[in-house]
Amino acid sequence: MRIKSGIPGLDPLMEGGFVDPSIVLVNGPPGAGKSIFSLQYLMYGVSQGERGLYITTLSEKFEWMARFMSDFEFFKREYFEDNMLIYEDISDKIKTESSTLIRSLMDTITETMPKRIVIDPVNPLREYMPNYREFLFDLVDMLKKWGATVIMTSEQDFKTEEERYMADGIIELMMKTEGDVIRRYIRIIKMRGTNHSLSVHPMSITESGISVLKANF
Ligand SMILES: Nc1ncnc2c1ncn2[C@@H]1O[C@H](COP(=O)(O)OP(=O)(O)O)[C@@H](O)[C@H]1O
Ligand SMILES: [Mg+2]
Repeated sequence: MRIKSGIPGLDPLMEGGFVDPSIVLVNGPPGAGKSIFSLQYLMYGVSQGERGLYITTLSEKFEWMARFMSDFEFFKREYFEDNMLIYEDISDKIKTESSTLIRSLMDTITETMPKRIVIDPVNPLREYMPNYREFLFDLVDMLKKWGATVIMTSEQDFKTEEERYMADGIIELMMKTEGDVIRRYIRIIKMRGTNHSLSVHPMSITESGISVLKANF
């Protein structure tokens, strides 16, 4: 089964969408559009009747995120008010036992029954959890049993890349300096069970959110 990404131009590059269920890593430097990508994915899901869970690891209040995202046409605050989207800040739990955090996430998931889950970004977990590898292993196990389609965002870090091995898919958001401008690109690095594009595609961020330009294979 496939689940649509909600990013115009992306699905045709990967047989119609993400494999459902699966775990997809969205990788890229600060400002590449990882949070926009994540929220666009969740908001699209709600428009299809699918509940979403947005887990942030940054100590960021809902209002702070909403202020930055409300400029986008896709952003619908009422989805949160109607409980079709759940916002969960786990920053204060990062330094607890890995099993405690897993249990707490499991409780949130069984209470809210999301079809789409985002963890944005994983970096603080990687940096501050005493037993991150074990946590990641247990988290992936738990998420796979749940059967949602999960996006984890990550800022490039070539020292620790265990997420890259366990992810079913990897999408990279790039920013390249060309002359005196920065251009945005997107590429699919890995997508299990999928004949996906291996090209680097230009992308844009506008009030409509992210879209993939020249989206041919
Ligand atoms: N309305 C907009 N139009 C065009 N680009 C925007 C708009 N709003 C934000 N951006 C771009 O998106 C970037 C932030 O994207 P974000 O998803 O928060 O990045 P990341 O999560 O990867 O750090 C900003 O730095 C800016 O370049
Ligand atoms: Mg972000």
